[in-house]
Amino acid sequence: MAFPAVDSIRNEIRSLQPYVPGKPIEELERELGISGAIKLASNENPLGPSPHALRAIEETARAGNRYPDGSCYYLREALSAHWDVPADRIAVGSGSNDLIDVLCRIHLGPGDEAVMSNPSFVMFAIAVKVAGGTVVRVPGRNLHHDPKAMLAAVNERTKLVYFANPDNPTGTIVGRNALEDYFRHVPEHVLTILDEAYFEYVTDPDYPDGIEHLRRGRRVAVLRTFSKIHALAGLRVGYGFFTPELASMVHRVRLPFNVTTVGEAAARASLGDADQVRRSREMNATGLAYYRRELPRLGLEITPSWANFVLARFPGSAVEAARALERQGVIIRPMIPFGLAPEYARISVGSPGENERLVEVLRRIV
Ligand SMILES: Cc1ncc(COP(=O)(O)O)c(C=O)c1O
Repeated sequence: MAFPAVDSIRNEIRSLQPYVPGKPIEELERELGISGAIKLASNENPLGPSPHALRAIEETARAGNRYPDGSCYYLREALSAHWDVPADRIAVGSGSNDLIDVLCRIHLGPGDEAVMSNPSFVMFAIAVKVAGGTVVRVPGRNLHHDPKAMLAAVNERTKLVYFANPDNPTGTIVGRNALEDYFRHVPEHVLTILDEAYFEYVTDPDYPDGIEHLRRGRRVAVLRTFSKIHALAGLRVGYGFFTPELASMVHRVRLPFNVTTVGEAAARASLGDADQVRRSREMNATGLAYYRRELPRLGLEITPSWANFVLARFPGSAVEAARALERQGVIIRPMIPFGLAPEYARISVGSPGENERLVEVLRRIV
């Protein structure tokens, strides 16, 4: 049956490139009729959720007939104590993606501009366009953000400047001095978003803590998530720190029940599990060191990443390499959708066994 064309759909939405997530393991196994595939494509935590979170999930699943606490009161209190930020400056979202989207809807309309690095996290660009704003992409320098160039792209139409720190897909960071210098020069009318989804993985002493900038009264929103170090990507809980005024706007715009009862409880339980955080960090550091040693031996160039993945430049097409890897049950993520050349793919750090399997299969195909 043919449906009539719908004129009411906005042109910005028609021209949107949909976000393409990493291929799910089940899909690859179904396609190839194989089992035991591994996924190193979505920057997930191979350790799995904390046992405390699993217990909280079981307990709260029974309350699934009730709507969640729309204010996430207990989780915001726990985050407030953990990070020493007043609860009235905290909002929780269905992943930090939700908060990126809410911030764009709060700030952007036709004619408004949002500055981001290129390459950087594509969901920001999508959220800007959905809100009706214009994305201004500033080429990175050597696969790092270039804060001076980003500053130079700011004008009176700019409402938002977005830093992913560490960045996705590069894993590189903006250091203290560069960020400090940026904040000294950025005009008052701009809100800077510091997306720190991989914050807990970074051990470089030159890595700035976005909360410090908020404490110093800067116009900044700091976003973090339970998807990465806390291994709760499937439960969708992210959070942000804002000025009190912006926090109250976020509460007006976000959906009333954007976080599930189970997600909130699992997040609270995970926040208290320092051992899980430490083990995740250690497993990731071991995996990154292994990639740094082994991947260049196979001709791959990798970025100096601080996150739970590396951006790799293959000697030939990474798209073909990814296809060959998939045939062997290993999923990685070619980076054409992130605006990079076909030689680039992003490879997440898995468990030691998964990392070794990747290297072993790569050795056969590169
Ligand atoms: C830089 C960055 N920000 C935000 C997110 C979204 O995370 P969440 O699962 O909290 O929506 C990701 C996920 O990969 C990311 O890489």
